[in-house]
Amino acid sequence: MFEAIQPAPRDAILGLTAAFREDPRGDKINLTVGVYQDEHGKTPVLECVRTAEQRLAEAASSKSYLPIPGDPEYAKMVRQLAFGADHEVVQSGRVATAQTPGGTGALRVAADFLQANLPGTTLWMSDPTWPNHPNVFSAARVPTQTYPYFDRASNGLALEPMLEAIGQMPAGDVILLHGCCHNPTGIDPTPDQWQQIAEAVYQRGLTPLLDFAYQGFAEGIQQDAAGLRAFCRPGAELILCSSFSKNFGLYRERVGALSMVCATAEVASTVQSQINRVIRSNYSNPPAHGAAIVNCILRDDSLRALWEEEVAAMRSRIHGMRQALVDALAAQGVPGDYSFITRQQGMFSFSGLTKEQVDKLREQYAVYIVGSGRINVAGLTPMNVERVAEAIGKVIGQPD
Ligand SMILES: Cc1ncc(COP(=O)(O)O)c(C=O)c1O
Repeated sequence: MFEAIQPAPRDAILGLTAAFREDPRGDKINLTVGVYQDEHGKTPVLECVRTAEQRLAEAASSKSYLPIPGDPEYAKMVRQLAFGADHEVVQSGRVATAQTPGGTGALRVAADFLQANLPGTTLWMSDPTWPNHPNVFSAARVPTQTYPYFDRASNGLALEPMLEAIGQMPAGDVILLHGCCHNPTGIDPTPDQWQQIAEAVYQRGLTPLLDFAYQGFAEGIQQDAAGLRAFCRPGAELILCSSFSKNFGLYRERVGALSMVCATAEVASTVQSQINRVIRSNYSNPPAHGAAIVNCILRDDSLRALWEEEVAAMRSRIHGMRQALVDALAAQGVPGDYSFITRQQGMFSFSGLTKEQVDKLREQYAVYIVGSGRINVAGLTPMNVERVAEAIGKVIGQPD
């Protein structure tokens, strides 16, 4: 039976990682993957995580199952971190939350929820978006469409075309927005633009789904929630998919959460029962360890302060490498204005390089970036940034 099955296409980004591993060149540089790296090219375990793990190991009393939606204490911390501890949304009890295996798990539970409860709802994604978004929603048989987001000419946000597209979307559909650090472009709306987007979304009768995978990587932990909080209006509904892979460095522990903000606490209780139903038939109940770490850190004043410091250090290294890349491109005399790189947020930068230039970077200079021209800025270090700028200068100078 299995012999007739055709191989699945390689994951575009993970496929490049495999090609990088096989590349024998000693000076190869990998700027493809979506993980934070320090100035030595390592993805470290945060100190706050190390301490929390020691405490948890000593206190461990059981490995029994968690409830279907996970630990309610963790859910409370997730809501407080995202919406703000004193926010009406948190205080009113009108949010249904589930601990999920990563942000991807949260997206998949949201997709299954939509398919089961609101069949026919279309999910609108930015063009471009994280390549796994269409995969997750298609796997759950939720129809997807795209809206304009990126303005190639200015390397900025295509606000007017985006608002116009929102105005044409059928009421009742769901619009997916990146809470901050848009992946892959690095372009986020300003607080003022977020207000305009929120206004347009609710005017049109759409439900926003915020994918919040990089809180703390743009401006700060609180500042980065400005987009999400622009949607928190009295009685308004929204879906939030949180991931703590990046900001706690807990990638392989698979820790995230789905929160659905409802009009009332009563509706939230019904919605919670339907969330639980889709989880039960999928993975039954979530893995415990990663969420226990996040919960432990957020509840302890000194661990939380340490975490905030460690997030600030990651953020500031990324900002520093953005500036270093712009400076190195200028020093190499590469033609063009690359200042947009310092205006982008988070780990990624849409470089504007063409597919052909990306291929040349890899083939001729052993510099690996994603085919869309997305660079993982967190893969840059003071040791490799000049070589990257030099290679970019050389491929830009060549005819296609
Ligand atoms: C925009 C976006 N959403 C969600 C995720 C999923 O994160 P997780 O590893 O927690 O599943 C990522 C990870 O790269 C991402 O970039």
